[in-house]
Amino acid sequence: MILALETSCDETSAALVDGGRVRSNVVSSQADLHARYGGVVPEVASRRHLELVSPVVREALAEAGATLDDVDLVAVTTGPGLIGALLVGLAHAKGIAFGRGLPLAPVDHLHGHVASLYLGPEPLEPPFLCLLASGGHTLLLDVREHSGFTRLGTTIDDAAGEAFDKGARLLGLGYPGGAALDRLTREGDPQGFGFPVARVPGLDFSFSGVKTALLYAVRDLSADELEARRADLAASYQAAIVRALVERTLAAAESVGAERIAVVGGVAANSELRAALAGATFAPLPLCTDNAAMIASAARFVERIPYPEYLPLDAHA
Ligand code: KG4
Ligand code: ZN
Repeated sequence: MILALETSCDETSAALVDGGRVRSNVVSSQADLHARYGGVVPEVASRRHLELVSPVVREALAEAGATLDDVDLVAVTTGPGLIGALLVGLAHAKGIAFGRGLPLAPVDHLHGHVASLYLGPEPLEPPFLCLLASGGHTLLLDVREHSGFTRLGTTIDDAAGEAFDKGARLLGLGYPGGAALDRLTREGDPQGFGFPVARVPGLDFSFSGVKTALLYAVRDLSADELEARRADLAASYQAAIVRALVERTLAAAESVGAERIAVVGGVAANSELRAALAGATFAPLPLCTDNAAMIASAARFVERIPYPEYLPLDAHA
């Protein structure tokens, strides 16, 4: 039985995973707290994690019908993420592991997102090509084993989720607006505006151009026109982002001869992306955005540090 903690950004999460089966996965999102600032404020996030981490662990244990006596391994995200936020989870995980004489597994957050595919009831097995698209990352990964992956491409500026969030903000949809923008596109014309899809060399992505194009389009409309065409703007903007993601993902799959494609991270929840890559495996919706079950899943494939050697372990931003 693995008890995992995830506090790398603005979700405080604890999960219990037993033999690849999720027994509980409690996620407390701070999104509302950060909404009025239009983005995550690191110090506010750290303080909120500090308040939430104990109750969230207690709730995860209760939901699983377990106690700390049942836990064999403590797992925790050690990076990448907001350093203060990570340190809260790491200190808490060390405290539990040390207090119980348990080993500790340090987990890379990106490995966690990929490992969201390795949980029951129908785990995906490597090899596959993985698109990891979240608020912080846009990566193409060649996955050949459970324990790791090779990076084939990344974004040279904004992450895909960040592009969704910034676009949503320009359209007055609040923060984080990716899901709201996705909903608004249903009423819009994806060909209403011709937004560019950036073409950078290799298998990398760039989303700053399309964001600027949206900014200019919004600026050139009167308040009434903007209101009338908001859905068209959203649909055209989303279409450009999804086209870029799909094109590069298919190119990456071809370059490594991958027969299967998987999509993970918050943007994997996007309806147009799911339709465009219909043959791909998508992480289950509750495991797309940040959560501790995916960290527990990855922990099964990393080297655990025996008690009490993890005490000097550090997080990385
Ligand atoms: O994986 P995640 O929780 O955070 C990071 O690890 O960064 O992903 C959150 C991101 C946000 O940018 C959010 O707007 C985006 O995923 N997102 C979506 C959708 N649902 C969440 N983006 C587009 N369409 C959606 N339906
Ligand atoms: Zn994430």
